[in-house]
Amino acid sequence: MRHNDKNNNNNSALGLDVGTSRICLAERSGEDFQYETQLNAFVSIPYSKMTESVLKKEKVPHTVNGEQIVVHGNESDRFADLLNVDTRRTMSKGVLNPAEPDSLSMIRKIVESLLEPCKDRRKLCFTIPAAPLGAEENLTYHEATIRQILGDMGYEVKSINEGLAVVYSELESSNYTGIGISCGGGLCNVCLAYLSVPVLSFSIPKAGDYIDNNTATVTGERANRVRIAKEDSFHLNGFFADKLHQVLGVYYDEMIQSLVNAMKQAFSSSHSLPKSGRNLPIVLSGGTALPEGFKDRFAKILGESELPITATEIRMAADPLHTSAKGALVAALADL
Ligand SMILES: Nc1ncnc2c1ncn2[C@@H]1O[C@H](COP(=O)(O)OP(=O)(O)OP(=O)(O)O)[C@@H](O)[C@H]1O
Ligand SMILES: [Mg+2]
Repeated sequence: MRHNDKNNNNNSALGLDVGTSRICLAERSGEDFQYETQLNAFVSIPYSKMTESVLKKEKVPHTVNGEQIVVHGNESDRFADLLNVDTRRTMSKGVLNPAEPDSLSMIRKIVESLLEPCKDRRKLCFTIPAAPLGAEENLTYHEATIRQILGDMGYEVKSINEGLAVVYSELESSNYTGIGISCGGGLCNVCLAYLSVPVLSFSIPKAGDYIDNNTATVTGERANRVRIAKEDSFHLNGFFADKLHQVLGVYYDEMIQSLVNAMKQAFSSSHSLPKSGRNLPIVLSGGTALPEGFKDRFAKILGESELPITATEIRMAADPLHTSAKGALVAALADL
């Protein structure tokens, strides 16, 4: 009986990708995986009884806060665009945003809009970033705080490095040996794993937000508008449709170059890479890897650098927006 209980508990394990841009929940649905996502952002709008009742009716996640209504999650985008303001963000560069006084209360609300409190200590594994290359950034506060929020909700919590989650999600065929990369909103995370063991992981603080903010500065648009246009139609194939796309292209190239430089630096200085087994597959994931032509651009820049490892293949993850959440779920399920 006890064995069964344990199995049931394990079948209901959850994966949670706590990302700078989006929080994504993964769970098992028969043989498949199923996902639910909320933007990790919020915006304040003036309080009125009318607005409150419409938001309630439309089931838009929100909180009344004195004279303000705070709309959080997916709908915050639309309201920010309507009001011509930028959304506020609970996280920056992969961790809780130190410049946002409401980061803690809002990330809790956003997590609660995805997850019910739990009575039977379901297993839940959430993603954490790797420290930036060359900086011993202290991730303790971020990790401990997210752990506490989830623990308070009744889950049995553990964490997984985001790059390793990419490996768990995509590299079963090579026995979890290879390089997992997630190009997200705040960071690009990289993990090199041998037989599921993370040998080396790091992040760089250039990703989607960096591209949006710099493009916004050059073009005079709001970063939120740049992001919406980028997600709608940007690609790295052929000619750029307009000035905005051309500027986005410049910062995309710079980000990819920084990523490849960091890989070269990290792999060259690592003593733990075995002499044999330096031929490894690379998997790309994350929202910033989505534009058409991204993989080819990455492969070209990688080919021009003298990396101390050889990529046996470079491929896109099957489902780049859900890869990290799936990897976290795989980790939770494997933890019998
Ligand atoms: N179709 C698209 N084209 C280009 N960029 C996109 C697209 N869809 C999403 N993005 C960008 O991807 C980024 C979000 O990716 P993702 O959800 O993987 O990040 P995250 O996990 O929240 O962040 P991080 O891992 O850095 O903490 C944002 O910058 C977003 O603008
Ligand atoms: Mg991510």
